[in-house]
Amino acid sequence: MATLFEPITLRSITVTNRTMVSPMCMYSAKDGVADDFHFVHLGRFALGGWGLVMVEATAVEPRGRITHGDLGLWSDEQIAPLARIASFLKKHGAVPAIQLAHAGRKASVQRPWEGDGPLAEAQFRVGEKPWDVVGPSALPFDEGWLKPTELSTSELEQIKDAFVASVRRALDAGFEVIEMHAAHGYLLNSFLSPLSNHRTDQYGGGRDARFRFPLEVAEAMRLAWPDHLPMFVRLSASDYVEGGVTIDDTVEFAKKLRQLGVDVVDLSSGGISPKGIPPRGYGFQVPFAERVRKNAEVATAAVGLITRPEQAEQILSSGQSDFIAIAREALADPNWPLHARRTLDQQGSDHFEGWPTQYQVWLSKRARVLRELDAPVTDGDFAGVK
Ligand SMILES: Cc1cc2nc3c(=O)[nH]c(=O)nc-3n(C[C@H](O)[C@H](O)[C@H](O)COP(=O)(O)O)c2cc1C
Repeated sequence: MATLFEPITLRSITVTNRTMVSPMCMYSAKDGVADDFHFVHLGRFALGGWGLVMVEATAVEPRGRITHGDLGLWSDEQIAPLARIASFLKKHGAVPAIQLAHAGRKASVQRPWEGDGPLAEAQFRVGEKPWDVVGPSALPFDEGWLKPTELSTSELEQIKDAFVASVRRALDAGFEVIEMHAAHGYLLNSFLSPLSNHRTDQYGGGRDARFRFPLEVAEAMRLAWPDHLPMFVRLSASDYVEGGVTIDDTVEFAKKLRQLGVDVVDLSSGGISPKGIPPRGYGFQVPFAERVRKNAEVATAAVGLITRPEQAEQILSSGQSDFIAIAREALADPNWPLHARRTLDQQGSDHFEGWPTQYQVWLSKRARVLRELDAPVTDGDFAGVK
């Protein structure tokens, strides 16, 4: 069997294969509450054979939203619709996971399709007002962006408590994995980077001081999350800016996360500064997952332009990561793992193992009919079924 389809057990949770839907904000919630859009959008990934489905960045307090449309878990009313999603994912074989987040100084912006910058007249007209943003230091992300208020130590305690309260709600909702979002320039990442953290107290200055607040949050989350359930952390491995976070810093940080009981480190990059442009290319962040896996001795997820099953298989079988996280390709093909399995395992065209039981017999019949008609049996652009 292909490594991509080998199960993996983390604490008490067995993920049936190594595919993971990477967290993707849909900016479509009202007051942070999930609705039927989220249910269908996420639910189809479970039917599509993904091992783990990570719900998008979910804000731990209202000012930690990126946009007015972000999901939240800052109140008990937000639990029930997420519980419905988690239950569906679980019932259909995927491990339900959720990313908990605070946008920090990159909060209070437009949805991507509205412009992706600070809120403007068009949003004000529909009542979507900006809110005060916060960060480690009073340094805006870019020209024209809101200037954050520097958080006091007592406010940091409140934010830590908000993460913990959201962890408890995630548990109530039935999630089996939580991910702490410490990437892409959002609050926890902005503490790690010397580019955004100019503090002179115990949370800023040298590397260990910059690590302190994100580690305190990780520790508090781990303590609030049951021992038998795994916890992931997403990091930006490099800022791609001179004087910013490097992969060496990330390896050291990952070692500390492992010591706190973090099970998987999910390696993304960039986002702290508009000047930090990641080099684009297939699997461009995979070397980060490999370095952290080898040098920090922790399981990793690789993400970023992983599009083809053979590519995913190569990453796993060569020991570069333990999970393959996929975002945009999952939007393009929610059945990606099912197609990948047929490609890698070279199943006969009449076998649709892993597909929903309700579909299998019909797809087999379809394959036979198409063959009789001498038509190619395609079920995905890389499936290669003749
Ligand atoms: C629509 C969209 C929303 C995203 N939202 C999040 C998010 O909520 N949290 C996060 O850590 N990354 C987010 N990302 C980044 C993805 O998880 C992923 O790391 C990135 O898209 C690279 O993977 P890909 O090449 O497979 O798309 C988002 C990406 C997209 C395309």
